[in-house]
Amino acid sequence: MADKDEKKEQSKGGWLHFIYNPGTGQFMGRTASSWALILLFYLVFYGFLAGLFSFTMWVMLQTLDDYTPKYRDRVANPGLMIRPKVGSALEIVFNKSDAQSYEKYVIALDNFLKPYEDLQQAQKNVLCQRGKYFNQSDKKFPKEACQFNRTMLRNCSGLNDTSFGYSEGKPCVLVKMNRIIGLEAGGGKNPVVNCSAKNEPQLAMQYFGSFDLMYYPYYGRITHVNYTQPLVAVKIMLGANDTNKDLMIECKISGSNLKNDDVRDRFLGRVSFRLEVTE
Ligand SMILES: *[C@@H]1O[C@H](CO)[C@@H](O)[C@H](O)[C@H]1NC(C)=O
Ligand SMILES: *[C@@H]1O[C@H](CO)[C@@H](O)[C@H](O)[C@H]1NC(C)=O
Ligand SMILES: *[C@@H]1O[C@H](CO)[C@@H](O)[C@H](O)[C@H]1NC(C)=O
Ligand SMILES: *[C@@H]1O[C@H](CO)[C@@H](O)[C@H](O)[C@H]1NC(C)=O
Ligand SMILES: *[C@@H]1O[C@H](CO)[C@@H](O)[C@H](O)[C@H]1NC(C)=O
Ligand SMILES: *[C@@H]1O[C@H](CO)[C@@H](O)[C@H](O)[C@H]1NC(C)=O
Ligand SMILES: *[C@@H]1O[C@H](CO)[C@@H](O)[C@H](O)[C@H]1NC(C)=O
Ligand SMILES: *[C@@H]1O[C@H](CO)[C@@H](O)[C@H](O)[C@H]1NC(C)=O
Repeated sequence: MADKDEKKEQSKGGWLHFIYNPGTGQFMGRTASSWALILLFYLVFYGFLAGLFSFTMWVMLQTLDDYTPKYRDRVANPGLMIRPKVGSALEIVFNKSDAQSYEKYVIALDNFLKPYEDLQQAQKNVLCQRGKYFNQSDKKFPKEACQFNRTMLRNCSGLNDTSFGYSEGKPCVLVKMNRIIGLEAGGGKNPVVNCSAKNEPQLAMQYFGSFDLMYYPYYGRITHVNYTQPLVAVKIMLGANDTNKDLMIECKISGSNLKNDDVRDRFLGRVSFRLEVTE
């Protein structure tokens, strides 16, 4: 009987004993010095891991250049994009007799063209020689950029015709080419934009602005601080019979080093959008 009681006593005190054993001075089964050694071991171990991680990171960062990306696409093939782009779909649908229906396009174009204001361009950028690449020495920092004035878009500048042609049903669409660092676009001749309606091939277009060679090469966001992307504006000269028609317009860029017919990528060197004008 006494034996049983003692056992009960022991198992009860066993837990407390395990947490702290006054006899040996052990805490959770280990002495203080044993705990200290374990702590030290993990400190050194994790310290070493952190050091190794930092070192490899540092070595990797040494191989990066602040001004150009380390890995770039195989060949420089810019994509095209249009403005106005309202929402996710590339479409421009409005009623030319209803100002509210095209207001969002006009606002989008106006905002997009803010940095192109002549005065701002004259302040930030320099006048360059047309038709020549603006090649700048590697040591020059920051790089200068050429002026692209809003007035250069003439009838599509939104200055005289503040609705960008939307009120007369001959809307302007801006075409821009994605920036690619170092690309000498066009291979010596100004890249040309050509738009056409797929189902209405004789539809007339007017072009304003240009992708002049002087806007290339582009040196990257950090170096080329005030770079202003060149634009081509296309005014789609819809006739009286072209309203209420669902049109697919495709714009392509041509230049000796620019691709525009990749079957897998329909934005490479080209862009298509839907246009429908009602009245
Ligand atoms: C276009 O707007 C005009 C004026 O608000 C209106 O009379 C006409 O019905 C609208 N057309 C269409 C197709 O919604
Ligand atoms: C842009 O506009 C400014 C101010 O009117 C003018 O001085 C400059 O020559 C223009 N630049 C170009 C490239 O037309
Ligand atoms: C960029 O524009 C600012 C004014 O906005 C001007 O002070 C600066 O000199 C320009 N930088 C270059 C490289 O032209
Ligand atoms: C531009 O300059 C770089 C070196 O700074 C040179 O390699 C390249 O051929 C030049 N391009 C043109 C078109 O002059
Ligand atoms: C605006 O119109 C005036 C006179 O009609 C003309 O002199 C000027 O060149 C036009 N500006 C643009 C950007 O079309
Ligand atoms: C630009 O608009 C004006 C006035 O609307 C017009 O006379 C001129 O022919 C237009 N420019 C072009 C290149 O069509
Ligand atoms: C645009 O392409 C069409 C058909 O491909 C061609 O007839 C027209 O001359 C081209 N226009 C320009 C400005 O290159
Ligand atoms: C518009 O359509 C009418 C009849 O369908 C035709 O007589 C006229 O020539 C067309 N106008 C244009 C600019 O295509």
